[in-house]
Amino acid sequence: MKLLIASRNRHKIEEIRAILNLPAVDLADIEAFPNLPEVVEDGHTFQSNAVKKAVTLALMARVWTLADDSGLEVDALTGAPGVQSARYAGEPVNYEANNVKLLEALRDHEVRTARFRCVVALASADGRAQIVDGTCAGKIIHECRGTGGFGYDPLFVPDGYDQTFAEMDPSLKNQLSHRARALKQARELWGELLASAAPSWPSFRKPRPPRA
Ligand code: IMP
Repeated sequence: MKLLIASRNRHKIEEIRAILNLPAVDLADIEAFPNLPEVVEDGHTFQSNAVKKAVTLALMARVWTLADDSGLEVDALTGAPGVQSARYAGEPVNYEANNVKLLEALRDHEVRTARFRCVVALASADGRAQIVDGTCAGKIIHECRGTGGFGYDPLFVPDGYDQTFAEMDPSLKNQLSHRARALKQARELWGELLASAAPSWPSFRKPRPPRA
């Protein structure tokens, strides 16, 4: 069975492929479907963006689709950058500028607790979706450390560790991360849906206008 990974972010795709080990599933990248549009992430929650991406692309590509929406929530910034994580410092997406802006915003803050969140939506080819989520708590340090990973990884130290995500071996990040935790549940969900063919899943498909 084919499962489309609805992301154009190379780092995310690599992590998803490394974590999501589904038997008898052919994981397909979005490049394999050249006519699919860019889905605008204009929702106010990770959930709405993940569902929008998964359902829109599943209906267009006519295959099972997995989408993730993720970001960083910083307590001292009342949850920012949150759903704006990718574009925190503006367009185009620039990880370094985002990190500089985050350090500046936290300059006078001693409380630096934060968490990464990831919502994964799994949509069937007829637009029915289920979501799962994962969180990884930690803190924001005072300067970037490490060269691995992406995004805010050089500034984020997960609870119980001394290294940032960018300093860790990727296989360790892929055990601890918000994405790993969400994808672990997605794996369980996948087993469930194969058993049930998902008849009771909610449909997020927009109602058709009445015929004239
Ligand atoms: P998305 O593509 O809208 O989900 O954007 C997620 C943004 O959140 C990314 O551009 C990163 O800035 C940040 N982010 C999400 N997951 C991670 C992660 O695992 N490490 C570092 N930054 C992340």
